[in-house]
Amino acid sequence: MKLILRTSLLHLLLCCATHVFSFNIVADPAANSEGLIEVELETTVSLSCGVDDAEKELVWLRNGVTVTLKEENKKGRSSVCVSPVIHDDNDATFTCHIKENSTFEASVTLNVTYPPELSGSEEVTVEEEAELVLRCDIWANPPVSSVVWVQNGSLVDLLAGGFIVNTDGHASELRATKVERSLHVGTYQCTAHSSKYGAFTKTFPVTVTDKTIKFPLMPMIAGIVVVFLTALLAFVSRWRTIVKVTHKTCT
Ligand SMILES: *[C@@H]1O[C@H](CO)[C@@H](O)[C@H](O)[C@H]1NC(C)=O
Ligand SMILES: *[C@@H]1O[C@H](CO)[C@@H](O)[C@H](O)[C@H]1NC(C)=O
Ligand SMILES: *[C@@H]1O[C@H](CO)[C@@H](O)[C@H](O)[C@H]1NC(C)=O
Repeated sequence: MKLILRTSLLHLLLCCATHVFSFNIVADPAANSEGLIEVELETTVSLSCGVDDAEKELVWLRNGVTVTLKEENKKGRSSVCVSPVIHDDNDATFTCHIKENSTFEASVTLNVTYPPELSGSEEVTVEEEAELVLRCDIWANPPVSSVVWVQNGSLVDLLAGGFIVNTDGHASELRATKVERSLHVGTYQCTAHSSKYGAFTKTFPVTVTDKTIKFPLMPMIAGIVVVFLTALLAFVSRWRTIVKVTHKTCT
């Protein structure tokens, strides 16, 4: 859209102005017709902006912020290199224009792609009656198309196992609030499918241990203090009565 606009503007200028600059950005990897450059995370993008007047100084902006350029990288042709490409470069727009006249500008936007970081195995031990939480990171671009949870080789039975699955753009979580050994022990796997990168799996061997009786120290102490204070109060009030009674008998 932007490129089309630029082209028509250029046509307009061709009709009306005496001198018009031929102005373009050459990108590696190349931009598509919408000015989007698809690039893998941690690789390199090089952008080169050129104008057909070797004396014209060029300016580069990244999301509207001026990019610092070396003196010899300004006139007639100017290049910027993004290396390595990071997550933060996703959606970043690079614009090049002639310093004295920003009417002549072109821009490209990066589409940084990356697979989900999902692999390996994580052993999980959970006590009976405690909460089981298994978490898989599924953050990816393009976003994963599906996430599947498997227990002992078959799809997790949400109803029978009392499981809850929560999935957002960053993670998928499988939860069972009250672990029962017979239901929950086993090997779990989450598998995320990416249209670009294929399937990614992480495995969780889950062991269920006996419930340990936790000694409730703080409530115990509080209880002892309460009992002691009650006894003390009882004794004091009784002592007062005794004193009073004694006093009465004396007069
Ligand atoms: C930029 O160039 C255009 C087209 O040649 C012209 O109409 C406009 O006045 C120029 N602007 C400046 C600030 O020189
Ligand atoms: C970025 O590239 C991916 C992979 O080709 C594509 O699925 C996605 O739609 C692109 N994103 C945008 C914003 O165009
Ligand atoms: C899953 O497999 C393990 C190991 O073979 C077994 O002990 C467990 O009972 C199985 N869990 C379920 C829910 O079938």
